[in-house]
Amino acid sequence: MAKPKKTSFGEEFEPILLSAWGSIKEHMDEALIDKTRRAVSEIRRYYRFKNVYPSKIRYSIPRNRAGYLAAFGQCHAYLSYIHLKRLQNVAPSEIPRPNSRELVVTILGAGAALEAYGLCLFYCEESFKIRKLNLNVVEKVKEWQSTRNTVLNRWIKVKFPKLDISTVDIDADLAKDDCIQKLSYHYDQVVMTDILIIYNVLNEIEVRNATKVWRNLDFILKICDKRLLVLLMEPCAPKARARVDWLIKALAQHSRVIDVRYDEEIRLDSPPTEVAFEGTGIGLNDRLFSRVVGGSNPALQTSIRRTNLACIMDPRSPISQEEMQKQLKQVDIKRGKKGRFAPSAKRSEGEQLSMPLDTPFIA
Ligand SMILES: C[S@@+](CC[C@H](N)C(=O)[O-])C[C@H]1O[C@@H](n2cnc3c(N)ncnc32)[C@H](O)[C@@H]1O
Repeated sequence: MAKPKKTSFGEEFEPILLSAWGSIKEHMDEALIDKTRRAVSEIRRYYRFKNVYPSKIRYSIPRNRAGYLAAFGQCHAYLSYIHLKRLQNVAPSEIPRPNSRELVVTILGAGAALEAYGLCLFYCEESFKIRKLNLNVVEKVKEWQSTRNTVLNRWIKVKFPKLDISTVDIDADLAKDDCIQKLSYHYDQVVMTDILIIYNVLNEIEVRNATKVWRNLDFILKICDKRLLVLLMEPCAPKARARVDWLIKALAQHSRVIDVRYDEEIRLDSPPTEVAFEGTGIGLNDRLFSRVVGGSNPALQTSIRRTNLACIMDPRSPISQEEMQKQLKQVDIKRGKKGRFAPSAKRSEGEQLSMPLDTPFIA
């Protein structure tokens, strides 16, 4: 796999910010830079749990998408690379190898799918001989789509020209009852998942929805028919912990944890994951964050605190005969004389086939 093309982060990221604003301009002019700086300050207030909680952020509004990307985009794009690099040290054999040079990754709460950047950086650098990345992108806010297209088609595909990326957009809310149904429409793609990424999304979901989120997530975990690497990274502010810790505990009950770190400072101070001023005066970070340019600019964040987890789900083993009989009874089907499955009796009209869900996780 060829090395990624060398261009500055700002040059690459400017079209992404423009698309988040819905602007057709070629470059961010001073008025848009100014609006973005204000949007950055506003979005950071949400994440510091000042007056407004992250779950209340409306990403359907361009200002919030642009503020979010300018505030955290570069850091978040690097997280998956850092996470995989670390696993390569602690448990290299657990890193999924591309199958026929293809890798399938499902991202929950993907937004602009910045996670894909770090993934490509890792899999291209490590001579995994990846040729195609199949992304399943689960997101409840449709308005992210055009920015996500810009990220994938104008940034990542240009940066990694030999890598083919194919995306399935799954418009689903992880906290809603119809999520499983929506995931099922894309069963064939989701079932192939090698890596499941859950980054910076739980913090935006109220704890009271934990049982529903677990049921939806468990559906993915159950259908996957090969070994699955689950990567989780979430904010660790004290008020965020309750929203995140329940899932870490639930995953620990159902998987093999290979690395977990609470409240870790991740420094972004060396290539290829360096967040820095360009020092040119015209770079994006200079224009948005440098105090030389303006007096009241927001600060450039060059490290990030995160709680992170990596765990492995092995495919569920075949169910026992006894369990199968019990389940067949539940779905009202039994084996006919020739071994075929057949409905045991005609159901009366209006009678529902009741298929009890697995015991939900109790937070
Ligand atoms: C903070 S952004 C994170 C985006 C990306 N994962 C990253 O790390 O940069 C959180 C995203 O999760 C989405 N989200 C929040 N709650 C969700 C839910 N219940 N179901 C699906 N997506 C959700 C939001 O719309 C938003 O795009």
